[in-house]
Amino acid sequence: MEPSDVQRGLEDVVALESRICFIDGQQGRLLYRGYDIRELASRSTFEEVAYLLWYSRLPSAGQLADLKRRMAELRVLPDALARTIDSLPSAALPMDVLRTAVSALALLEPEETKPGASSIGGAQRLTAVLPTILGWIQRRRSGARPVAARPDLSQAAYTLYALLDREPSELDARAMDVALILHADHELNASTFAARVTASTLSDLYSAITSAIGTLKGPLHGGANERVMELLAEIGTPDRAEEVVKAKLARHERIMGFGHRVYKVEDPRATILREWSRKVGEERGNLNDYALLRKVEEVVHREKGLYPNVDLYSGSVYSLLGIPHDLFTPLFASSRVAGWTAHVLEEYDDLRLIRPMAKYVGATDLTYVPIGGRT
Ligand code: CMC
Repeated sequence: MEPSDVQRGLEDVVALESRICFIDGQQGRLLYRGYDIRELASRSTFEEVAYLLWYSRLPSAGQLADLKRRMAELRVLPDALARTIDSLPSAALPMDVLRTAVSALALLEPEETKPGASSIGGAQRLTAVLPTILGWIQRRRSGARPVAARPDLSQAAYTLYALLDREPSELDARAMDVALILHADHELNASTFAARVTASTLSDLYSAITSAIGTLKGPLHGGANERVMELLAEIGTPDRAEEVVKAKLARHERIMGFGHRVYKVEDPRATILREWSRKVGEERGNLNDYALLRKVEEVVHREKGLYPNVDLYSGSVYSLLGIPHDLFTPLFASSRVAGWTAHVLEEYDDLRLIRPMAKYVGATDLTYVPIGGRT
Protein backbone atom coordinates (compact mmCIF):
# COMPACT_ATOMS: atom_id res chain seq x y z
CA MET A 1 0.00 0.00 0.00
CA GLU A 2 1.26 3.48 -0.86
CA PRO A 3 1.76 5.82 2.12
CA SER A 4 -0.55 8.24 0.29
CA ASP A 5 -3.61 5.95 0.80
CA VAL A 6 -5.03 7.59 3.91
CA GLN A 7 -8.02 5.87 5.54
CA ARG A 8 -9.30 8.60 7.84
CA GLY A 9 -10.26 7.17 11.22
CA LEU A 10 -8.80 3.85 9.96
CA GLU A 11 -12.27 3.21 8.53
CA ASP A 12 -12.51 -0.25 6.92
CA VAL A 13 -8.87 -0.97 7.77
CA VAL A 14 -8.38 -4.54 9.02
CA ALA A 15 -5.62 -4.13 11.59
CA LEU A 16 -5.25 -7.63 13.05
CA GLU A 17 -6.72 -11.11 13.40
CA SER A 18 -8.79 -11.89 16.48
CA ARG A 19 -10.84 -14.84 17.77
CA ILE A 20 -12.75 -12.85 20.39
CA CYS A 21 -15.61 -10.94 18.81
CA PHE A 22 -17.35 -10.89 15.44
CA ILE A 23 -19.62 -8.12 14.20
CA ASP A 24 -21.70 -8.58 11.08
CA GLY A 25 -22.56 -4.95 10.41
CA GLN A 26 -24.85 -5.77 7.46
CA GLN A 27 -26.99 -8.33 9.29
CA GLY A 28 -26.79 -6.72 12.74
CA ARG A 29 -25.18 -9.77 14.37
CA LEU A 30 -22.71 -9.79 17.24
CA LEU A 31 -20.86 -12.89 18.43
CA TYR A 32 -18.55 -13.40 21.41
CA ARG A 33 -16.19 -16.33 20.69
CA GLY A 34 -18.78 -17.69 18.25
CA TYR A 35 -21.87 -17.33 20.48
CA ASP A 36 -24.68 -14.99 19.46
CA ILE A 37 -25.11 -12.03 21.82
CA ARG A 38 -28.91 -12.55 21.82
CA GLU A 39 -28.49 -16.04 23.25
CA LEU A 40 -25.86 -14.90 25.76
CA ALA A 41 -28.06 -11.99 26.88
CA SER A 42 -31.08 -14.21 27.42
CA ARG A 43 -29.39 -17.28 28.91
CA SER A 44 -25.99 -16.49 30.44
CA THR A 45 -24.50 -14.27 33.13
CA PHE A 46 -21.71 -11.69 33.06
CA GLU A 47 -19.34 -14.05 34.88
CA GLU A 48 -19.95 -16.77 32.25
CA VAL A 49 -19.32 -14.26 29.49
CA ALA A 50 -16.12 -13.01 31.13
CA TYR A 51 -14.93 -16.63 31.40
CA LEU A 52 -15.81 -17.17 27.74
CA LEU A 53 -13.87 -14.08 26.68
CA TRP A 54 -10.78 -14.98 28.73
CA TYR A 55 -10.65 -18.77 28.22
CA SER A 56 -12.32 -19.10 24.75
CA ARG A 57 -14.93 -21.56 26.03
CA LEU A 58 -18.01 -21.58 28.24
CA PRO A 59 -17.24 -22.72 31.79
CA SER A 60 -18.43 -25.94 33.38
CA ALA A 61 -20.47 -25.52 36.58
CA GLY A 62 -17.31 -26.08 38.66
CA GLN A 63 -15.22 -23.66 36.63
CA LEU A 64 -17.91 -21.00 36.94
CA ALA A 65 -18.20 -21.50 40.69
CA ASP A 66 -14.38 -21.17 41.00
CA LEU A 67 -14.36 -17.99 38.94
CA LYS A 68 -17.18 -16.44 40.99
CA ARG A 69 -15.43 -17.29 44.24
CA ARG A 70 -12.14 -15.89 42.98
CA MET A 71 -13.71 -12.69 41.68
CA ALA A 72 -15.64 -12.19 44.91
CA GLU A 73 -12.31 -12.35 46.80
CA LEU A 74 -10.78 -9.85 44.40
CA ARG A 75 -13.49 -7.23 45.02
CA VAL A 76 -11.73 -5.81 48.02
CA LEU A 77 -10.41 -2.27 47.63
CA PRO A 78 -6.91 -1.76 49.08
CA ASP A 79 -6.91 0.91 51.81
CA ALA A 80 -4.18 2.80 49.99
CA LEU A 81 -6.38 3.06 46.90
CA ALA A 82 -9.35 4.26 48.96
CA ARG A 83 -7.10 6.98 50.42
CA THR A 84 -5.80 7.89 46.94
CA ILE A 85 -9.35 8.31 45.67
CA ASP A 86 -10.25 10.36 48.74
CA SER A 87 -7.34 12.70 48.02
CA LEU A 88 -8.65 13.61 44.54
CA PRO A 89 -10.74 16.77 44.01
CA SER A 90 -14.32 16.07 45.08
CA ALA A 91 -15.66 17.67 41.89
CA ALA A 92 -13.57 15.38 39.64
CA LEU A 93 -15.54 13.46 37.00
CA PRO A 94 -16.06 9.81 37.99
CA MET A 95 -14.52 8.70 34.69
CA ASP A 96 -11.35 10.68 35.48
CA VAL A 97 -11.25 9.23 38.99
CA LEU A 98 -11.66 5.72 37.58
CA ARG A 99 -8.77 6.25 35.14
CA THR A 100 -6.53 7.52 37.94
CA ALA A 101 -7.64 4.74 40.30
CA VAL A 102 -6.76 1.96 37.84
CA SER A 103 -3.40 3.56 37.18
CA ALA A 104 -2.77 3.94 40.92
CA LEU A 105 -3.86 0.36 41.62
CA ALA A 106 -0.88 -0.88 39.61
CA LEU A 107 1.42 0.96 42.04
CA LEU A 108 -0.42 0.38 45.27
CA GLU A 109 -0.80 -3.37 45.25
CA PRO A 110 2.26 -5.12 46.57
CA GLU A 111 3.74 -7.31 43.85
CA GLU A 112 3.18 -10.48 45.91
CA THR A 113 -0.60 -9.89 46.22
CA LYS A 114 -1.09 -8.61 42.71
CA PRO A 115 -2.60 -11.60 40.89
CA GLY A 116 -0.27 -12.03 37.92
CA ALA A 117 -0.20 -8.42 36.77
CA SER A 118 -0.37 -9.12 33.04
CA SER A 119 -2.20 -12.45 33.04
CA ILE A 120 -5.77 -13.73 33.42
CA GLY A 121 -5.27 -13.14 37.15
CA GLY A 122 -4.75 -9.43 36.46
CA ALA A 123 -7.81 -9.44 34.19
CA GLN A 124 -9.89 -10.97 36.98
CA ARG A 125 -8.56 -8.55 39.58
CA LEU A 126 -9.42 -5.51 37.46
CA THR A 127 -12.85 -6.83 36.47
CA ALA A 128 -13.69 -7.74 40.06
CA VAL A 129 -12.53 -4.50 41.66
CA LEU A 130 -13.98 -1.95 39.22
CA PRO A 131 -17.49 -2.02 40.75
CA THR A 132 -15.93 -1.47 44.18
CA ILE A 133 -14.03 1.55 42.85
CA LEU A 134 -17.25 2.93 41.33
CA GLY A 135 -19.07 2.30 44.60
CA TRP A 136 -16.37 4.14 46.51
CA ILE A 137 -16.56 7.11 44.12
CA GLN A 138 -20.33 7.29 44.49
CA ARG A 139 -20.54 6.72 48.23
CA ARG A 140 -17.80 9.15 49.13
CA ARG A 141 -19.66 11.99 47.39
CA SER A 142 -22.99 11.03 48.91
CA GLY A 143 -21.50 10.54 52.36
CA ALA A 144 -22.66 6.93 52.66
CA ARG A 145 -20.72 4.16 54.38
CA PRO A 146 -17.89 2.32 52.57
CA VAL A 147 -18.59 -0.61 50.29
CA ALA A 148 -18.44 -4.07 51.86
CA ALA A 149 -17.17 -6.59 49.30
CA ARG A 150 -20.30 -8.88 49.61
CA PRO A 151 -18.91 -12.12 48.15
CA ASP A 152 -22.43 -13.61 48.15
CA LEU A 153 -23.65 -11.37 45.31
CA SER A 154 -23.24 -11.88 41.56
CA GLN A 155 -21.19 -9.28 39.72
CA ALA A 156 -24.38 -7.59 38.47
CA ALA A 157 -26.09 -7.52 41.88
CA TYR A 158 -22.84 -6.42 43.53
CA THR A 159 -22.42 -3.59 41.01
CA LEU A 160 -25.86 -2.23 41.93
CA TYR A 161 -25.26 -2.81 45.62
CA ALA A 162 -21.91 -0.98 45.47
CA LEU A 163 -23.46 2.00 43.67
CA LEU A 164 -26.78 2.26 45.49
CA ASP A 165 -26.01 0.88 48.95
CA ARG A 166 -28.93 -1.55 48.80
CA GLU A 167 -29.49 -5.03 47.46
CA PRO A 168 -31.28 -4.96 44.10
CA SER A 169 -34.47 -6.84 43.22
CA GLU A 170 -34.14 -9.88 40.98
CA LEU A 171 -35.43 -7.93 37.98
CA ASP A 172 -32.99 -5.05 38.53
CA ALA A 173 -30.05 -7.43 38.96
CA ARG A 174 -31.01 -9.26 35.76
CA ALA A 175 -31.33 -5.94 33.87
CA MET A 176 -27.83 -5.03 35.05
CA ASP A 177 -26.51 -8.48 34.16
CA VAL A 178 -27.84 -8.12 30.61
CA ALA A 179 -26.33 -4.62 30.29
CA LEU A 180 -22.96 -5.95 31.51
CA ILE A 181 -23.10 -8.84 29.03
CA LEU A 182 -23.98 -6.54 26.12
CA HIS A 183 -21.12 -4.13 26.87
CA ALA A 184 -18.45 -6.75 27.58
CA ASP A 185 -16.79 -6.63 24.17
CA HIS A 186 -17.10 -5.10 20.74
CA GLU A 187 -14.20 -6.04 18.51
CA LEU A 188 -11.75 -3.24 17.68
CA ASN A 189 -13.70 -0.26 19.02
CA ALA A 190 -11.56 2.77 19.86
CA SER A 191 -10.88 1.89 23.52
CA THR A 192 -10.04 -1.74 22.79
CA PHE A 193 -7.75 -0.62 20.00
CA ALA A 194 -6.07 1.82 22.41
CA ALA A 195 -5.57 -1.03 24.90
CA ARG A 196 -4.07 -3.24 22.20
CA VAL A 197 -1.77 -0.46 20.96
CA THR A 198 -0.45 -0.05 24.52
CA ALA A 199 -0.07 -3.81 24.96
CA SER A 200 1.68 -4.12 21.59
CA THR A 201 4.64 -2.19 23.00
CA LEU A 202 4.87 -4.93 25.68
CA SER A 203 3.59 -2.52 28.27
CA ASP A 204 1.63 -4.03 31.18
CA LEU A 205 -2.08 -4.85 31.48
CA TYR A 206 -2.86 -2.04 33.93
CA SER A 207 -1.29 0.55 31.58
CA ALA A 208 -3.31 -0.86 28.68
CA ILE A 209 -6.57 -0.59 30.66
CA THR A 210 -5.69 2.96 31.74
CA SER A 211 -5.30 3.87 28.03
CA ALA A 212 -8.63 2.22 27.28
CA ILE A 213 -10.49 4.11 30.02
CA GLY A 214 -9.15 7.44 28.74
CA THR A 215 -10.35 6.53 25.25
CA LEU A 216 -13.78 5.34 26.34
CA LYS A 217 -14.46 8.67 28.02
CA GLY A 218 -15.23 10.58 24.82
CA PRO A 219 -18.87 11.21 23.82
CA LEU A 220 -18.40 9.60 20.41
CA HIS A 221 -17.64 6.33 22.20
CA GLY A 222 -18.63 5.60 25.79
CA GLY A 223 -20.06 8.96 26.76
CA ALA A 224 -23.02 8.93 24.37
CA ASN A 225 -25.71 7.50 26.69
CA GLU A 226 -25.22 10.34 29.15
CA ARG A 227 -25.87 12.79 26.31
CA VAL A 228 -28.98 10.83 25.33
CA MET A 229 -30.38 11.52 28.80
CA GLU A 230 -29.58 15.23 28.35
CA LEU A 231 -31.49 15.14 25.08
CA LEU A 232 -34.50 13.54 26.79
CA ALA A 233 -34.44 16.24 29.46
CA GLU A 234 -34.35 18.90 26.73
CA ILE A 235 -37.25 17.32 24.84
CA GLY A 236 -39.42 16.82 27.95
CA THR A 237 -42.58 15.37 26.37
CA PRO A 238 -43.02 13.14 23.29
CA ASP A 239 -44.94 15.86 21.39
CA ARG A 240 -41.77 18.03 21.41
CA ALA A 241 -39.45 15.28 20.08
CA GLU A 242 -40.05 16.06 16.42
CA GLU A 243 -39.34 19.78 16.79
CA VAL A 244 -36.22 19.40 18.98
CA VAL A 245 -34.64 16.61 16.93
CA LYS A 246 -35.33 18.30 13.59
CA ALA A 247 -33.84 21.57 14.85
CA LYS A 248 -30.68 19.74 15.93
CA LEU A 249 -30.37 17.97 12.61
CA ALA A 250 -30.87 21.27 10.78
CA ARG A 251 -27.90 22.64 12.76
CA HIS A 252 -25.93 19.49 11.71
CA GLU A 253 -25.71 18.34 15.30
CA ARG A 254 -25.29 14.64 16.00
CA ILE A 255 -28.06 12.84 17.81
CA MET A 256 -26.37 10.66 20.39
CA GLY A 257 -27.30 7.00 20.45
CA PHE A 258 -27.61 6.78 16.65
CA GLY A 259 -25.28 5.65 13.91
CA HIS A 260 -22.33 3.31 14.03
CA ARG A 261 -19.08 2.85 12.18
CA VAL A 262 -19.71 -0.87 11.66
CA TYR A 263 -23.47 -1.53 11.90
CA LYS A 264 -25.43 -0.49 8.84
CA VAL A 265 -28.65 -1.79 10.42
CA GLU A 266 -29.87 -1.74 14.01
CA ASP A 267 -27.25 -2.59 16.61
CA PRO A 268 -28.49 -5.88 18.15
CA ARG A 269 -27.58 -4.54 21.60
CA ALA A 270 -30.04 -1.67 21.07
CA THR A 271 -32.80 -4.17 20.22
CA ILE A 272 -32.24 -6.02 23.51
CA LEU A 273 -31.89 -2.88 25.63
CA ARG A 274 -35.06 -1.39 24.14
CA GLU A 275 -36.94 -4.36 25.56
CA TRP A 276 -35.26 -3.95 28.95
CA SER A 277 -36.03 -0.23 28.99
CA ARG A 278 -39.70 -1.15 28.51
CA LYS A 279 -39.63 -4.03 31.01
CA VAL A 280 -37.96 -2.08 33.84
CA GLY A 281 -40.12 0.98 33.04
CA GLU A 282 -43.32 -1.08 33.18
CA GLU A 283 -42.33 -2.62 36.49
CA ARG A 284 -41.88 0.87 37.93
CA GLY A 285 -44.93 2.33 36.20
CA ASN A 286 -42.67 4.84 34.42
CA LEU A 287 -42.48 4.56 30.65
CA ASN A 288 -41.68 8.25 30.09
CA ASP A 289 -38.13 7.77 28.79
CA TYR A 290 -39.18 4.75 26.77
CA ALA A 291 -41.97 6.70 25.05
CA LEU A 292 -39.64 9.63 24.33
CA LEU A 293 -36.95 7.36 22.92
CA ARG A 294 -39.42 5.59 20.63
CA LYS A 295 -40.47 8.96 19.26
CA VAL A 296 -36.86 10.16 18.82
CA GLU A 297 -36.08 6.89 17.01
CA GLU A 298 -38.97 7.44 14.62
CA VAL A 299 -37.89 11.00 13.77
CA VAL A 300 -34.16 10.23 13.38
CA HIS A 301 -34.85 7.24 11.17
CA ARG A 302 -37.29 9.18 9.00
CA GLU A 303 -35.06 12.25 8.69
CA LYS A 304 -31.57 10.65 8.48
CA GLY A 305 -32.11 6.92 7.94
CA LEU A 306 -29.98 6.24 11.05
CA TYR A 307 -30.50 3.28 13.40
CA PRO A 308 -30.09 3.21 17.19
CA ASN A 309 -26.85 1.97 18.73
CA VAL A 310 -26.25 0.46 22.17
CA ASP A 311 -26.22 3.89 23.82
CA LEU A 312 -29.77 4.88 22.95
CA TYR A 313 -31.55 2.74 25.54
CA SER A 314 -28.81 1.91 28.05
CA GLY A 315 -29.09 5.28 29.80
CA SER A 316 -32.84 4.90 30.31
CA VAL A 317 -32.31 1.46 31.89
CA TYR A 318 -29.57 2.78 34.20
CA SER A 319 -31.68 5.80 35.15
CA LEU A 320 -34.60 3.59 36.12
CA LEU A 321 -32.23 1.49 38.20
CA GLY A 322 -31.29 4.71 40.05
CA ILE A 323 -27.76 5.15 38.72
CA PRO A 324 -26.50 8.75 38.45
CA HIS A 325 -25.83 9.82 34.86
CA ASP A 326 -22.14 10.55 35.34
CA LEU A 327 -21.59 6.92 36.33
CA PHE A 328 -22.91 5.53 33.03
CA THR A 329 -19.53 5.58 31.27
CA PRO A 330 -17.60 4.21 34.28
CA LEU A 331 -20.22 1.45 34.37
CA PHE A 332 -19.55 0.76 30.68
CA ALA A 333 -15.84 0.46 31.60
CA SER A 334 -16.64 -1.99 34.42
CA SER A 335 -18.15 -4.34 31.84
CA ARG A 336 -15.85 -3.66 28.86
CA VAL A 337 -12.82 -4.38 31.06
CA ALA A 338 -13.58 -8.08 30.49
CA GLY A 339 -13.20 -7.58 26.74
CA TRP A 340 -10.27 -5.16 27.01
CA THR A 341 -8.30 -7.62 29.09
CA ALA A 342 -9.15 -10.53 26.74
CA HIS A 343 -7.85 -8.44 23.83
CA VAL A 344 -4.68 -7.44 25.69
CA LEU A 345 -3.95 -11.11 26.47
CA GLU A 346 -4.60 -12.01 22.84
CA GLU A 347 -2.22 -9.23 21.80
CA TYR A 348 0.53 -10.62 24.04
CA ASP A 349 0.01 -14.07 22.46
CA ASP A 350 0.38 -12.76 18.92
CA LEU A 351 2.52 -9.72 19.43
CA ARG A 352 3.27 -7.25 16.68
CA LEU A 353 4.04 -3.63 17.52
CA ILE A 354 1.10 -1.52 16.26
CA ARG A 355 2.65 1.38 14.48
CA PRO A 356 0.83 2.83 11.45
CA MET A 357 2.12 5.65 9.29
CA ALA A 358 0.98 9.21 8.64
CA LYS A 359 0.92 10.89 5.27
CA TYR A 360 2.95 14.02 5.80
CA VAL A 361 1.18 17.05 4.33
CA GLY A 362 3.20 19.83 6.04
CA ALA A 363 5.94 22.09 4.70
CA THR A 364 9.29 20.61 3.63
CA ASP A 365 11.42 23.56 2.57
CA LEU A 366 11.58 25.97 5.52
CA THR A 367 14.86 27.55 6.64
CA TYR A 368 15.65 28.05 10.31
CA VAL A 369 15.46 31.72 11.39
CA PRO A 370 17.34 32.67 14.61
CA ILE A 371 14.91 33.92 17.29
CA GLY A 372 15.99 37.55 16.98
CA GLY A 373 15.04 37.56 13.31
CA ARG A 374 11.46 36.26 13.75
CA THR A 375 8.40 38.52 13.68
N1 CMC B 1 -26.61 12.03 14.29
C1 CMC B 1 -26.71 12.74 13.18
N2 CMC B 1 -26.01 12.45 12.07
C2 CMC B 1 -25.18 11.40 12.13
C3 CMC B 1 -25.03 10.63 13.28
C4 CMC B 1 -25.79 10.98 14.40
N3 CMC B 1 -25.71 10.27 15.51
N4 CMC B 1 -24.15 9.63 13.04
C5 CMC B 1 -23.74 9.78 11.78
N5 CMC B 1 -24.35 10.85 11.23
C6 CMC B 1 -24.21 11.35 9.89
C7 CMC B 1 -22.98 12.22 9.77
O1 CMC B 1 -23.24 13.56 10.06
C8 CMC B 1 -22.61 12.00 8.34
O2 CMC B 1 -23.50 12.75 7.53
P1 CMC B 1 -22.97 13.52 6.25
O3 CMC B 1 -22.42 12.46 5.36
O4 CMC B 1 -24.19 14.20 5.75
O5 CMC B 1 -21.92 14.45 6.76
C9 CMC B 1 -22.94 10.52 8.10
O6 CMC B 1 -23.97 10.22 9.03
C10 CMC B 1 -21.76 9.60 8.33
O7 CMC B 1 -21.19 9.89 9.60
P2 CMC B 1 -19.71 9.57 10.01
O8 CMC B 1 -19.33 10.48 11.13
O9 CMC B 1 -18.81 9.54 8.83
O10 CMC B 1 -19.83 8.11 10.51
P3 CMC B 1 -18.86 7.42 11.53
O11 CMC B 1 -18.70 6.05 11.07
O12 CMC B 1 -17.60 8.17 11.78
O13 CMC B 1 -19.77 7.56 12.82
C11 CMC B 1 -20.28 7.52 15.06
C12 CMC B 1 -19.87 6.69 13.85
C13 CMC B 1 -20.69 6.54 16.16
C14 CMC B 1 -19.08 8.35 15.53
C15 CMC B 1 -21.47 8.45 14.70
O14 CMC B 1 -22.54 7.70 14.21
C16 CMC B 1 -21.88 9.32 15.87
O15 CMC B 1 -21.28 10.36 16.10
N6 CMC B 1 -22.94 8.89 16.63
C17 CMC B 1 -23.33 9.60 17.81
C18 CMC B 1 -22.46 9.19 19.00
C19 CMC B 1 -22.83 7.84 19.51
O16 CMC B 1 -23.98 7.50 19.63
N7 CMC B 1 -21.80 7.08 19.88
C20 CMC B 1 -21.96 5.74 20.41
C21 CMC B 1 -21.48 4.73 19.42
S1 CMC B 1 -21.95 3.07 19.86
C22 CMC B 1 -20.97 2.76 21.26
C23 CMC B 1 -19.63 2.36 20.87
O17 CMC B 1 -19.47 1.28 20.26
O18 CMC B 1 -18.67 3.10 21.20
